[in-house]
Amino acid sequence: MTKNYALITGSTAGIGLDIARELASRGHNILLTARREDRLKDIAERLTLDFGVHADYVVADLSEPSAPGTIFSFCDSHQYAVNILVNNAGYSINKKFHETGEEEEEKFLRVLGTSVVALTKRFIPGMLKQKSGKIMLVSSLAAFAPPATGWGALYGPVKTFVNRFGDALNLNYRSHGITSTNVCPGFTVTEFHSASGMQDAMDEVPSFMKKDSKTVAKGAVDAMMKGKSAWVPGLLNKTIAFLCNNLPTSLVIKMSSSLAGGRYE
Ligand SMILES: NC(=O)c1ccc[n+]([C@@H]2O[C@H](COP(=O)([O-])OP(=O)(O)OC[C@H]3O[C@@H](n4cnc5c(N)ncnc54)[C@H](OP(=O)(O)O)[C@@H]3O)[C@@H](O)[C@H]2O)c1
Repeated sequence: MTKNYALITGSTAGIGLDIARELASRGHNILLTARREDRLKDIAERLTLDFGVHADYVVADLSEPSAPGTIFSFCDSHQYAVNILVNNAGYSINKKFHETGEEEEEKFLRVLGTSVVALTKRFIPGMLKQKSGKIMLVSSLAAFAPPATGWGALYGPVKTFVNRFGDALNLNYRSHGITSTNVCPGFTVTEFHSASGMQDAMDEVPSFMKKDSKTVAKGAVDAMMKGKSAWVPGLLNKTIAFLCNNLPTSLVIKMSSSLAGGRYE
């Protein structure tokens, strides 16, 4: 018999792991996916022990074009209906644009962009059949800000794409019972900065600007369950998003340059 599952990409660490725990604590069956199998196995066992839900995993590298198909086939063969899809996996390239290889960038755009579209495309027909579904796109505050150096040239632009994609999903599917939520965190304490070779820069960020991933995950799941189209964690991040969206770009760049010298030179 087909059972409903919440599928969370990038659920071996950080925000994705805490979203998986938050959804399991609310009684949802969980399907984890990422590259590190040892962690996936341990986390799935832990979720079942802690929350009594069914938890399974599928190993996939989202930088490979075949990964969304592999994940979908796994669900199909196990009769897992994905009624909650959390597109969360991500990292950053900590190099200047002229220093990166094309293949490195293609992989990056696949993980943060193309795979998000491909997974959503595969799972929306099942949600349409059920006349309900929840999608979360874990984007970033960087989606609102002018692109900056030090984060790679593509991180902000691909997150802006993700937000626009989420808006398009709401426009097309809200009337069919399917909602999509753009979650736009600012600095969050996870493995993101060490995995992207940016831990030194993160260590310099004042602690009042950082959030813990558990708080972000809980707020993100609340926002998704309410069908909100977007959610930014915390007052400071909300203020930054508001200023980025409403002040002239040249002024935002000036303000950002004085706060974080060199990022816009
Ligand atoms: N932390 C922040 O300050 C911050 C701020 C704004 C937005 N975000 C966004 O939040 C999301 C989650 O990041 P996080 O901070 O939780 O980072 P994290 O702790 O480093 O977790 C990233 C997750 O993505 C997975 N992943 C990375 N590359 C992958 C690939 N090629 N294929 C499949 N899975 C992959 C990792 O698993 P494996 O290594 O096991 O594959 C891991 O589970 C990202 O989209 C990020 O852009 C983070």
